[in-house]
Amino acid sequence: MLLAGWPALAWKRNTARATLLQPCARLLSANPICSSQHSGNCKRPVAPGAPPEGFFDYVLNRQLSIVIRLGPNHSKRESIAMNLTRRDFARVSALGLAVRFVPNLAAWASAPRKTGYCVIGLGRIAGHFMPAVRSATTSQITGLVSGHRDKAERMAAEYGIAASSIYNYENFDEIAHNPAIDAVYVALPNSMHAEYTIRAAKAGKHVLCEKPMSTSVADAEAMIAACKAARVKLMIAYRCHYEPTNLRAIRLIRQGALGRVQAIESTFGFNIAPGEWRLSKKLAGGGPLFDVGIYSLNACRYLTGEEPEHIAATASVIDQDGRFNEVEENVSWTMKFPSGIVASCNTTYGANMEGFYRVHGSKGWLEVDSAFVYEGLRLRADYVGAQLDELNPARDPSHFLAEADHFSHCVQNGQEPQSPGEEGLRDMRYITQIYRSAGIAM
Ligand SMILES: NC(=O)c1ccc[n+]([C@@H]2O[C@H](COP(=O)([O-])OP(=O)(O)OC[C@H]3O[C@@H](n4cnc5c(N)ncnc54)[C@H](O)[C@@H]3O)[C@@H](O)[C@H]2O)c1
Repeated sequence: MLLAGWPALAWKRNTARATLLQPCARLLSANPICSSQHSGNCKRPVAPGAPPEGFFDYVLNRQLSIVIRLGPNHSKRESIAMNLTRRDFARVSALGLAVRFVPNLAAWASAPRKTGYCVIGLGRIAGHFMPAVRSATTSQITGLVSGHRDKAERMAAEYGIAASSIYNYENFDEIAHNPAIDAVYVALPNSMHAEYTIRAAKAGKHVLCEKPMSTSVADAEAMIAACKAARVKLMIAYRCHYEPTNLRAIRLIRQGALGRVQAIESTFGFNIAPGEWRLSKKLAGGGPLFDVGIYSLNACRYLTGEEPEHIAATASVIDQDGRFNEVEENVSWTMKFPSGIVASCNTTYGANMEGFYRVHGSKGWLEVDSAFVYEGLRLRADYVGAQLDELNPARDPSHFLAEADHFSHCVQNGQEPQSPGEEGLRDMRYITQIYRSAGIAM
């Protein structure tokens, strides 16, 4: 049986055993007297014939550091440069290497490596995601896709990404041959999500795709089908699903703190600058509903844990200044859930509108305001037995770190993400219903 990645030696079973144990043996035979790492030469002899108590201590930059225990308080540390991968070590363990000598090594060998992300589209949201991933223990940025080579090269230098892992939109499919890339992060205008998700899946890469998942139900279904066919994971980047204040609100409601929930209000909007791709129907699919109204829609679903069974909506354009020639400016919609809970939501591109929700129950109320921004989330509640006012001190990009950690965990452990493609598809179906009810063609 040959081990890959260690070309200098013929890695047959006996060779692996002999070579890995050899440093311990060499140290012991060459130095039967403890030479403590703290005090140089300690002259205490090791009992003749005592079994070696060597164990592999840690591995850093593929340097194997071995601590040889020569007595209860005596040890020697020796570093050996070995061009090993974790996989090599896992295989060495499988070959029957005496694991009692290598307890830390065994843990290290089974530890998952960081999930490598290729970021597609180096715009604003990528500027939050990338620093978050840089601080992650589960994830790392290993590739970039951009139409601007100079910008990509600057970012590659900042993140230690090989120049050979910079792609453009034409040669993107070559990521299939890059083993450092496990997954892609799709951070492109909405209507491009489907194409790049499907191309990534065909390249055999997992997909973390920004919201909104797509600009049509058909595209969302095609994205799910492509990822299923390629047996790769698909997660929609609903960062609020992984954010502690939103999770606390959900928990309080599920625990019945508010009694029976009756009604929810939620809004999110901003005053958009002219010239944004968000104002192009072709690129954005629609107006503020796709972009920020989706937060209120999704929140009403995760707060109730129910799917809306009735939706009614209306839309308008007030500002005739050229920004809203293709997409709506305002949308207002109501939803009724199976339990009878009613929700009322507004979104706009014409005013800076706080992203918040307020939940009214038979025993009190709860609100998160702001609920959807990157930091400064505040939960207040007043219900029988409690008054809460909790400001979340976490700073941006903590949401993106939680999101990346979750997806990397799913990739590494073969688990389904909490916000899979199907979750994005549901929102696409409700968005379609809202537009239909408001008389807007998609
Ligand atoms: N999860 C969140 O909190 C959050 C926040 C903002 C945006 N988003 C989503 O992320 C995605 C990207 O939004 P953004 O704000 O980063 O946008 P952006 O305009 O800042 O970045 C878009 C990137 O796509 C590239 N691009 C490639 N082809 C393009 C084209 N034809 N037209 C325009 N840009 C093109 C741009 O060069 C740029 O790098 C959107 O789907 C948006 O809904 C999510």
